[in-house]
Amino acid sequence: MTERNILNGQCLRELDPEVYGAILAETERERRSLVMIASENYASQAVIEAQANVMTNKYAEGYPGARYYGGCEFVDKAEKLAIDRVKRLFGAEYANVQPHSGSQANMAVYLAFLGPGDTIMGMDLSHGGHLTHGSPANFSGKFFNPVFYGLDPNTQLIDYGQVRALAKKHRPKIIVAGASAYPRRIDFSIFADIAHENGAYLMADMAHIAGLVAVGLHPSPIGNADFITSTTHKTLRGPRGGFILSSVAHGERLDKGVFPGIQGGPLMHIIAAKAVAFGEALRREFVEYQKQVLVNAKALADEIIGHGFDLVSGGTDNHLILIDLTRKGITGADAQRLLGNAGIVANKNSVPFEKRGPKITSGLRLGTPALTTRGMKEAEMKQIARLIRDVLENPDPDTLRRTEGVVSDLCDSFPIYP
Ligand SMILES: Cc1ncc(COP(=O)(O)O)c(C=O)c1O
Repeated sequence: MTERNILNGQCLRELDPEVYGAILAETERERRSLVMIASENYASQAVIEAQANVMTNKYAEGYPGARYYGGCEFVDKAEKLAIDRVKRLFGAEYANVQPHSGSQANMAVYLAFLGPGDTIMGMDLSHGGHLTHGSPANFSGKFFNPVFYGLDPNTQLIDYGQVRALAKKHRPKIIVAGASAYPRRIDFSIFADIAHENGAYLMADMAHIAGLVAVGLHPSPIGNADFITSTTHKTLRGPRGGFILSSVAHGERLDKGVFPGIQGGPLMHIIAAKAVAFGEALRREFVEYQKQVLVNAKALADEIIGHGFDLVSGGTDNHLILIDLTRKGITGADAQRLLGNAGIVANKNSVPFEKRGPKITSGLRLGTPALTTRGMKEAEMKQIARLIRDVLENPDPDTLRRTEGVVSDLCDSFPIYP
């Protein structure tokens, strides 16, 4: 009889009940709550299966066909599939699928094209930008000289006039177009004009909107931006990770920026899962999914406005909405906590020209990608908007109990992961 060892022995449940228990509890939490965090989604069973495989064992520094280790023939196959599929999905000439995350995709581009102290320009964090777009708390603000553009105070849309004026004044080497909490369309062609008029590269960070871009429901940065970075796990519904797209001309520098620039061995099991997710995104069903994400966001926005809430920019063109709670006299932190108690998971968020600190905030960000993956449609969005109103306007024990009951029924009607 074969002796039991770590390779053929106990399963996780037997070997490590503590970690197993945490995973089980997280599965249950995801089943039993309404996930409205705009950057989250439910990856398919196939994507999750592809992440949990023996490719985690393999060192593969380098790129397909040019590795620093032997035995790479099968991981090469997975990485080539991921590269070919993501290039096809977005119509790109070049792709690098190795960045471990969206932050590392951005870091690799900066490292490839900037020197220490060079100027970058991105959207102010409190107006919807991301930490990696120059925040002083992040490497991007520590190693480079950040300049920020923001939203027009009246329209709460990107102030392209300000972007142009700042680019002229500060001559950044890279302008970043992209956001974590901007509910409107981003005009990559105006950004490209501004960047190229002023001798800058344009980096489009499409982390949030990649799924919409993939199916043509948000204008593509391809053809406008010099570099495009993204995550794989938000609207794109893949495993956690990042990637970079560009023209072949920049490929060699970008490859070196990722490895050996900022990473060692790529996570080959995750790259296999990225290939699966890109394959899923190439199917017709994915177009229908993204259409519904948008329809749901619009239905949610309209209903929430109808209940007397203010939305930043007055609505949405994408998968997210940002509620400005200032007039309602409740903070973002309190709104997040109250909704969380009732099973609705969302995140507090700064609003443009925010007066409160980032741990409190005056805003609440809501997204529809995860609920849409569950199969919810406009009727459920309207129902959920009413629940949100009830909890935020009347957070008494009765309301919370009633809301919990409706959330539970919705979760039963739209099950995840059998
Ligand atoms: C616009 C944008 N860029 C980059 C990132 C970073 O991605 P990650 O969390 O994978 O590092 C995010 C994540 O929220 C994002 O919203």
